Amino acid sequence: MPDHTDDTVLQLVNVSKSFGPVNVIKDVTLSVRRGQVQALLGENGAGKSTLIKMIAGVHQPDSGKILVDGSEATIASTNDSEAHGIATIHQELNLVPTLSVAENIMLGRTPKRFGMVNRKHLNAQAQAALNLIGLDVPLKQPVGELGIAKQQLIEIAKALSMNARILILDEPTAALTGKEVDALFTILDELKAKGVAMVFISHHLDELARIADTISILRDGEFVAEVPASTDEDTLVQHMVGRAIEEQYPRGEVAEAGAPLLEVAGLTSTSKFSDISFTVHAGEIVGLAGLVGAGRTEIVRAIAGADKYDSGTVEVAGKKLKSGDIQGAIRSGVGHIPEDRKGQALVLDGTVNENLGYATLAATSKAG
Ligand SMILES: Nc1ncnc2c1ncn2[C@@H]1O[C@H](COP(=O)(O)OP(=O)(O)OP(=O)(O)O)[C@@H](O)[C@H]1O
Ligand SMILES: [Mg+2]
Repeated sequence: MPDHTDDTVLQLVNVSKSFGPVNVIKDVTLSVRRGQVQALLGENGAGKSTLIKMIAGVHQPDSGKILVDGSEATIASTNDSEAHGIATIHQELNLVPTLSVAENIMLGRTPKRFGMVNRKHLNAQAQAALNLIGLDVPLKQPVGELGIAKQQLIEIAKALSMNARILILDEPTAALTGKEVDALFTILDELKAKGVAMVFISHHLDELARIADTISILRDGEFVAEVPASTDEDTLVQHMVGRAIEEQYPRGEVAEAGAPLLEVAGLTSTSKFSDISFTVHAGEIVGLAGLVGAGRTEIVRAIAGADKYDSGTVEVAGKKLKSGDIQGAIRSGVGHIPEDRKGQALVLDGTVNENLGYATLAATSKAG
């Protein structure tokens, strides 16, 4: 048995989980303590999300126990999890795109009066949640119209507004900029001081050093170690991959930039971006930096033909692309990986094979 101190509010004890024949979580034991952030670290597919989904009531363990305040708990549903004071921010957003910001925040907790939705209370509580993280969006706006970063912040606001005593955050910072991450961490520090226990998943080691107290490492579904958050990066990476890594970011040959390949000139789309000009040479990577809402996504979408623009030009290898012509862009060799891959890039019910085929299918067939 793991030690159960008075500070331990949540424990997983010898928990295992398989999907079909695949054993994804193998005999994992983990403690989460009052006023502390327990980080989960591991490579893609290590089992971090699956583990926290068992705390959130999305999956049930095949064997092993979950203890809340030292007593065995059955967490068969999201409701069970919330009833134990657990709030979870999942890695994949769980918002309903057609519902408003306020309705999403209050989903499942809609205040009613005489059997009717009490709009006044709904809006007041949703606004209070937004104020917690300082997010300024209209309460009535459908969530699907907002970018990924704002949607992520709404998920965070929603979870925070539940006043949970155990807060689980699965890669909450993946879509956020540095400034927003700082704001989130300030809130997490306050929650820590109030005694909230947290599980925090991130691939960013600097974030873990900043916010975590302890780091538990998973590898291939197995618990490897729990170490203090001050542990040096080399040791952490070694635990993650199971061997010493010579160079974390090996520098390949520096490529010589070739001829100009993508030329964007004076690109303008009213109220989104204006007069954007830059050149990308063959063999070159150009970064687009800016705050959330600055227009980065919109510029990239316009270049890929996903949206029309009002003026300016996009040229690939000296050939001008038409505004809003996805097929033409694909034929010219432009590939686009959008920020919302689940919503905009993948057909989740389709096979890997089908998904790989869709982009080229669209470009070569005249039917669509
Ligand atoms: N519902 C499911 N059905 C089948 N396999 C699943 C399911 N959910 C997860 N898996 C598999 O379980 C393994 C662990 O996945 P999980 O999402 O927990 O990893 P992770 O550590 O959160 O990775 P990442 O860092 O990429 O988010 C993966 O091999 C994944 O493909
Ligand atoms: Mg995950």
